[in-house]
Amino acid sequence: MPPRLVVGVTGATGAVYAQRLLLRARELGIETHLIVTPAGVLNLHHELGLERRQIEALADRSYAPGDVGACLASGSFDASAMVIAPCSMKTLAAVAHGFGDNLLTRAADVMLKERRPLLLMVRETPFNLAHLRNMCAVTEMGGIVFPPLPAFYHRPASIDEMVADTVERVLQMLRLPGADPQRWQGLKPA
Ligand SMILES: Cc1cc2nc3c(=O)[nH]c(=O)nc-3n(C[C@H](O)[C@H](O)[C@H](O)COP(=O)(O)O)c2cc1C
Repeated sequence: MPPRLVVGVTGATGAVYAQRLLLRARELGIETHLIVTPAGVLNLHHELGLERRQIEALADRSYAPGDVGACLASGSFDASAMVIAPCSMKTLAAVAHGFGDNLLTRAADVMLKERRPLLLMVRETPFNLAHLRNMCAVTEMGGIVFPPLPAFYHRPASIDEMVADTVERVLQMLRLPGADPQRWQGLKPA
């Protein structure tokens, strides 16, 4: 059985992370199960010119966010991990409070209750106290809060490189096989 990754896409800026993640997962032979919220569709279109069907074509299986009866809504669905990329503050709040009002937030709730890996690529700046508290709550429940903040010490030459580096680190954090992020080799003496 290939590893199974649930991918949630919400209406925060950074739709390119979702696109890259799905492409890389396919390269690595990871089976993807995709849920895109309506605001996620808006941003995919605004930032990348993609329609819902085009992002869904990058996944093995796609689900409507309103389909709370889908297999992902149950702990009996054997998901290896789930990532929300990017994750809005609204969806973060729902996950932090166990508010499973759509399939994406329900699937995240299931990951936490089943003690399976859940990673949120949260995106907002600056944060208010509610955002910070919600990130603490998710962390206390075992979720991974992973804001997509680029590292510059590898001297990325393009946005594409920065996105690729972040996505590789996400896949590695979720212990998905094949992920191979750049390793820090140590500073050379001046
Ligand atoms: C162009 C655009 C960019 C947005 N960027 C962010 C963002 O970076 N972070 C965030 O929390 N919300 C952002 N929002 C607002 C969310 O889309 C909005 O709160 C939405 O209700 C989130 O719903 P969802 O989590 O179900 O996708 C943005 C909205 C738009 C239209």
